[in-house]
Amino acid sequence: MKMKAEKKFTLGLKLPTDPRWADISTISLQHILTDHAFCEQKATSNIISLIQQYSEREGIVELLSPVVTEEWGHFRMVIAKLKERGLELGLQRQDEYVKKLVKGKKKGQSREGYFLDQLLICAMIEARSCERFKTLWQNLDDTDLQEFYYKFMVAEASHYKLFLELAKMHFPEDDVMVRWNYWLDYEASFISDLEVRGDRLH
Ligand SMILES: [Fe+2]
Ligand SMILES: [Fe+2]
Repeated sequence: MKMKAEKKFTLGLKLPTDPRWADISTISLQHILTDHAFCEQKATSNIISLIQQYSEREGIVELLSPVVTEEWGHFRMVIAKLKERGLELGLQRQDEYVKKLVKGKKKGQSREGYFLDQLLICAMIEARSCERFKTLWQNLDDTDLQEFYYKFMVAEASHYKLFLELAKMHFPEDDVMVRWNYWLDYEASFISDLEVRGDRLH
């Protein structure tokens, strides 16, 4: 029997972004940049707490410290873009996507299990962010913003790769892939239920 080929989307994600979100005409630059800035701030904070929690693990301090600097640099790049466009950083909002995502963690896991999940959740957020930046890069009708988002797309793709590599450095590859597939399926199970809003990155 011929196996049905699975559709491949950016970085192996199981569902592409809703085309309604990709309708760039609905995107408010002021809000999307504010949301983006806080996503970069949260990425920085998350990586710092990963370093605090798992500092004894191989590669965590050495490989992730530069990413903290990079993510904070991203925050500053977004702030600079807001200023350049005469816009202001608004208030932080609740991140429904991340809130939903972390609910997928198994309760009562060992420290090892949490460690693997933390790395894979980071990889997941990087992958989805990369896909959204790709959408903005491909669809925005503004060369300056296209270049801006292209840089983020490339950077977040490399972070996605790094988090998966760290997972494979600490756990057998088969176990990592089983759990990664769980996260891909779980993310796909709720992403289409989230409200499509042009003022949110996720
Ligand atoms: Fe970033
Ligand atoms: Fe990142």
